[in-house]
Amino acid sequence: MMFDKVEEYKAMIKAAEAKAADDLEQFRMKFISKKSVVTALFNDFKNVPNDQKKAFGQALNELKTLAQDKFKSLAETLDNGSSESASQGVDLTLPDIPNQNGSVHPLTITRNKIIEIFERMGFNVASGPEIEEDFYNFTALNFPENHPAREMQDTFFIEKNPDKVLRTHTSNVQIRMMEEGKPPFRSIMPGRVYRNEAISARAHCFFHQVEGLYVDKNVGFKDLKQTVYHFVKEMFGENTKVRFRPSYFPFTEPSAEIDISCFICQGKGCNVCKYTNWVEIAGSGMVDPNVLANCGIDPEEYTGFAFGMGIERIAMLKYQINDLRLFSENDVRFLRQFQGSF
Ligand code: DAH
Repeated sequence: MMFDKVEEYKAMIKAAEAKAADDLEQFRMKFISKKSVVTALFNDFKNVPNDQKKAFGQALNELKTLAQDKFKSLAETLDNGSSESASQGVDLTLPDIPNQNGSVHPLTITRNKIIEIFERMGFNVASGPEIEEDFYNFTALNFPENHPAREMQDTFFIEKNPDKVLRTHTSNVQIRMMEEGKPPFRSIMPGRVYRNEAISARAHCFFHQVEGLYVDKNVGFKDLKQTVYHFVKEMFGENTKVRFRPSYFPFTEPSAEIDISCFICQGKGCNVCKYTNWVEIAGSGMVDPNVLANCGIDPEEYTGFAFGMGIERIAMLKYQINDLRLFSENDVRFLRQFQGSF
C-alpha cells in the first residue's frame, strides 16, 4: 500500500512539466516542501512494519532524490525558456539595417548646377515674390493691357483691382531688380511659377524657372550666344550643339527660342527629341527698350539680354524623366534614385 503510493508519486514526478513559474511552485509544494506528499510519507515511516523499514526507507530516499532532481531540471528548462522569450526577435549576430540616407531632390540638384555654372560666369542669384502684382508679371514686361499675349500664359488671378496673380514666370524678378538698382545687372533668378493648366505628364500647375538677365553698356546678341554656348556645354556636354530659333516674347526684341542637339540619341532620333534631333530648353532675347524704360533705365545707354528656362525641363532631359508629376509626388522610389547626387 505504502509502496504503491511511492510508485504512483514517482510516475507523477517523472511526468511533471513546468510551463510557467507557477507550475514549478506547485511541483515544489507537492513533492518537495514540508507539506509535500513525500514529507507525509516520511512521517508515516514509523507505521511501517519493521521488516519493511529498510526497503521502504530506500524507496523513500529514491523518491526524494527523484523529486529534487526533477525540480532542478524543471527550473532549468523554465529559465532557458523564459530568457529566450525575453530576447525573442533580437538576434545580435544579424547584420545592421543600413541607414536610409536622404537624397537631394532632382530639381534642387539641377537648380544648383545651373547656379554654379552661371556663378562662374559672374552672375549672382536673385529672387522675387511668387504672389505678384499684375504690373510686374505683365505690364512692365511690355504686355499691353488686354493684349492677347497675356493669354499665352494661363494665369491664376488671386485678387482684382489692383490685380494680383501667382507669377506665371520668373521674369517679374527682372523688373524688380532693374527698378530697385542701377546697371550693370548680371543675375540669375531661380524660382517657382504657376499656371492654370491641367496636370499631366507634360504640364503642371506649378513648376520652376531660372531667369537670366545681363544689362550693361554694349551688351549684344553675341553675348547672349556666348553665354548660352558655355552654359549648354557645361550642363549637357562638350559636343552639344545650340540652335537659336526666331520667336516672340513681349519683353524681348529680337526674341529667340534656344534648342540643343539631342544628347540622348546623338542625332539618331528618339522619343525625347521626337525624331527632330533638337530639344527646346529656353526662351531668350535682347531686353525690349520699352522694358528698360519702364524700369527707369535709359535704353539709349544700356542694352541687355535675358533668358528663361524651365528647371523641370532641364532635369527631365538630363535624367531622362518622362513624367513631370514625379517631381512633386514625393515617391521615395523616384527620389532615392538621386542618392549620392548633389
Ligand atoms: N518668361 C518666359 C516664359 O515663361 C521665358 C522667357 C523668355 C524669359 C525669354 C526671358 C526671355 O527672360 O528673354 O515662357
